[in-house]
Amino acid sequence: MRRRRIYEGKAKVLFEGPEPGTLVQYFKDDATAFNAQKKGVITGKGVLNNRISEYLMLKLEEVGVPTHFVRRLNMREQLIREVEIIPIEVVVRNVAAGSLAQRFKLEEGTRLPRSIVEYYLKNDELGDPLVTEEHITAFGWAATQDIDDMLQLALRVNDFLSGLFLGVGLKLVDFKVEFGRLWEDEQMRIVLADEISPDSCRIWDVQTNEKLDKDRFRRDLGNVEQAYQEVARRLGVLPEA
Ligand code: C5P
Repeated sequence: MRRRRIYEGKAKVLFEGPEPGTLVQYFKDDATAFNAQKKGVITGKGVLNNRISEYLMLKLEEVGVPTHFVRRLNMREQLIREVEIIPIEVVVRNVAAGSLAQRFKLEEGTRLPRSIVEYYLKNDELGDPLVTEEHITAFGWAATQDIDDMLQLALRVNDFLSGLFLGVGLKLVDFKVEFGRLWEDEQMRIVLADEISPDSCRIWDVQTNEKLDKDRFRRDLGNVEQAYQEVARRLGVLPEA
């Protein structure tokens, strides 16, 4: 069946869904970094991220975090609820790494005194700048209540996923989540959207601190495919070869 393409992003494509209010989210193998200055392909990534994100979203639903996820359709596609994406990337950090380590000259791997939440504006042209609540409300990207909901949900996602990963010998260093507005019976609620995968999280082995996420691609560390497979294997969702 040929479906109407609604939106194409760097790693995913959204198609019209089978019923009104649904979309099909297709996971590509394409990878980009540094605001798409670096481009590449991670063979099999789409299949693994589809599985990993399905697994994590279902687990989060079980503990009461609402998500856009409906069900996985096939190797690379999942059915999701259509939401209005809030143009803010919410980053939660437990350990200093990436842009935080750079900005404050912290050694990567330093455990933070407490989890830090940051907001970035989703805007490729501007390079996704760090923004404050003041910017978000003044420019109308989200209301104070929306920010509060996103913050509470992001912290619950962090608590739950940190424990889940630790149970399989993985450390959740940091991650990015996106949220969307969903209308039901004239009511609006905010749900977790997009994906949760090694593209959007930093995940290290607890014993060795080996990086098992997109930093292997960003920093040319090699064994990129193997890292994504290892995360899927530990979570018990590695698709049959
Ligand atoms: O680069 P930085 O350290 O700010 O990234 C923090 C976290 O957010 C990392 O887990 C990274 O993978 C994720 N991220 C993302 N998409 C972006 C920016 C960051 O998934 N556009």
